[in-house]
Amino acid sequence: MSEPSLRPWYPWFTFLAFVLGLLVTTVFFKDQFREWKKWQNAYIKQEMAKATTAEQREAAAHIPIEIKQIVLPGLGRVDRCITCHVAVEDPSYAGLKQPLAYHVNHSQHPFEKFGCTVCHQGQGLATTKEAAHGNVPHWDRPMLPLNFLEASCAKCHTADELADAPKLAQGQAAFDKFGCIGCHKLQGRGGNVGPELDAVGARRSPEWLARHFKNPSKLVPGSAMPHFQMSDDEIAALTLYMLGQTGEHLSDYYVSMKTIPSADSGRRLFQERGCIGCHSVAKKGGVIGPALDDVSKRRTGKWIVDHFKDPQSVSPGSVMPKFGFTEQEIRALTAFLVSLSDPNVVGFLKVPSELTSIERGHTVFTKYGCAGCHNQDGNGGIPNPNAKTAEQVPSLKYVAEGYTKDELKKFIMNGQREIAMKDPSRPPPPLYMPAWKTRIPEGELDDLVDYLISLMPKDEKTSF
Ligand code: HEC
Ligand code: HEC
Ligand code: HEC
Ligand code: HEC
Ligand code: HEC
Ligand code: HEC
Repeated sequence: MSEPSLRPWYPWFTFLAFVLGLLVTTVFFKDQFREWKKWQNAYIKQEMAKATTAEQREAAAHIPIEIKQIVLPGLGRVDRCITCHVAVEDPSYAGLKQPLAYHVNHSQHPFEKFGCTVCHQGQGLATTKEAAHGNVPHWDRPMLPLNFLEASCAKCHTADELADAPKLAQGQAAFDKFGCIGCHKLQGRGGNVGPELDAVGARRSPEWLARHFKNPSKLVPGSAMPHFQMSDDEIAALTLYMLGQTGEHLSDYYVSMKTIPSADSGRRLFQERGCIGCHSVAKKGGVIGPALDDVSKRRTGKWIVDHFKDPQSVSPGSVMPKFGFTEQEIRALTAFLVSLSDPNVVGFLKVPSELTSIERGHTVFTKYGCAGCHNQDGNGGIPNPNAKTAEQVPSLKYVAEGYTKDELKKFIMNGQREIAMKDPSRPPPPLYMPAWKTRIPEGELDDLVDYLISLMPKDEKTSF
């Protein structure tokens, strides 16, 4: 009996060994030429070229080629961008070609605490450019184009006070001006006609948003959102502001700098907290406390800070309240007080008691987004298909003719869900007058009604 011979299989073994060898070699070479290794090799080459001493050359030659990452427990992410962007912290790479360039202006947000994607978006863990920059299917947060980067600042800072992000402030102003809040909820405030916008920046791309603002019903057929007449600048700014609404919940440290200390944010606090009730500036305001025009000449910065923390600690028996300001708010108020020696600043101050109810009412009109449906200054013209009155939301210019003050207040409180239809066989008009009942407090409602009545063109008022 002879053993069955393996000999006939030998060519197959040789073939398999060859295939295996080929696989191992491909894997080896593919690894050698990984995209990121190219950049790290280029970095080492530049370091070698820069080296002037033997030790420096030696050190450069020993820079390990490896995946580099920033672990960010506070943000729940790991960013590997520095695997290619190796030189972000080396000023000698300032102005060089990406990805081997220094990152300007990053001292306020140290990379070891912030990483990269909290501002830029993209896919932190990826190690190829296309994937990291997020230009791949199934990754819904592609990197923000640089002209929209300011949007991220709004995750952590108050949008309208950031000197470094002017377009963001412009976006917030446009949001107020067009009355978006009349139809949309944002941060718990606003209407129900359109979807909530808290996380809209996470579900929509810059392109989609800009196209939607240009003409909502072209993108979303039958949309009840008005086609506002906006400039390209306003569209860009609104898009930016929307992109900043990502609905992310960031831990305390990251939102600790909501108020960026500046004279401007200090001025806002000064007005909001009613300091003017007790203190005067440029001869306007109260007399319970001293005039504040040149307080920075009377007191040191430290005294002012200590005084805000606890007025009694430096001024025993003081009746000035202990406001419980944060460190940042105190710095902002101090910056504002110091700026008071500049006469241009003082002009901005408004004493509430000097505003007329009509002026205050205009603020109320903006605050609740009435302009979203009734247009700016209550001009009307927003389409409301199949509404009896010209298929538009009515203008508010002439409400003084049809309503008394009390009737107007009642109407605003109760709203009008049932809108008279032009043609009962067509769908009902999409926009109705919300009931503002508990949402607008009595004082604001009085001011609002005074404002509405004032809209009546002057020359026509006399004919009554
Ligand atoms: C595999 C290498 C690689 C990785 C990983 C990488 N990048 Fe880049 N990045 C590049 C290259 C190369 C450029 C140069 C410009 C180009 O080719 O698009 C660049 C350019 C950029 C730019 C400038 C874009 C522009 O429009 O001018 C930004 C911003 C940027 N990267 C951010 C990031 C962020 C954030 C991450 C991490 C999520 C990251 N990169 C990860 C390779 C990489
Ligand atoms: C606090 C927000 C923030 C963080 C965190 C941040 N960046 Fe930036 N980055 C910016 C801003 C803002 C600019 C635009 C700078 C300018 O032009 O003034 C920028 C610019 C860049 C550019 C240059 C784009 C160009 O061509 O001009 C690159 C590349 C870049 N960042 C990559 C990174 C990487 C990699 C990280 C992480 C190590 C990172 N950034 C972290 C905000 C941030
Ligand atoms: C993830 C949250 C976050 C994002 C996003 C962010 N910041 Fe900040 N920022 C902070 C925190 C926290 C500090 C305070 C850092 C510290 O001192 O430890 C800070 C500090 C600052 C300061 C310095 C304030 C001072 O007086 O000390 C400025 C200015 C600033 N940020 C502007 C920006 C701009 C502009 C952007 C957008 C490009 C931005 N930030 C994005 C959280 C953030
Ligand atoms: C209820 C009235 C009252 C309010 C409200 C009030 N203050 Fe005062 N403040 C005083 C009085 C009284 C003094 C003088 C006694 C003292 O130094 O505490 C004073 C003192 C000061 C001083 C020191 C002035 C000096 O020349 O010594 C500063 C600065 C100041 N207040 C700022 C503010 C700011 C900012 C606010 C708003 C956040 C504010 N105050 C709100 C009553 C008030
Ligand atoms: C979601 C859209 C929407 C918003 C937001 C809205 N309105 Fe209206 N409003 C309407 C519609 C639609 C009518 C017309 C009702 C009708 O025809 O029965 C109307 C009617 C009115 C009228 C009666 C006009 C007339 O000629 O009879 C007043 C007054 C009014 N609104 C005030 C306000 C004020 C003040 C606000 C802000 C607090 C506001 N509206 C916000 C949709 C809106
Ligand atoms: C008269 C009510 C109304 C006003 C005012 C209004 N919207 Fe809308 N908005 C809607 C409705 C309804 C939708 C849903 C249909 C659509 O997508 O067009 C919508 C959709 C949106 C969306 C898309 C949300 C998503 O997740 O799909 C955004 C973003 C948006 N609006 C932003 C704004 C901004 C910013 C303003 C102010 C300039 C504004 N809207 C004013 C009614 C309104």
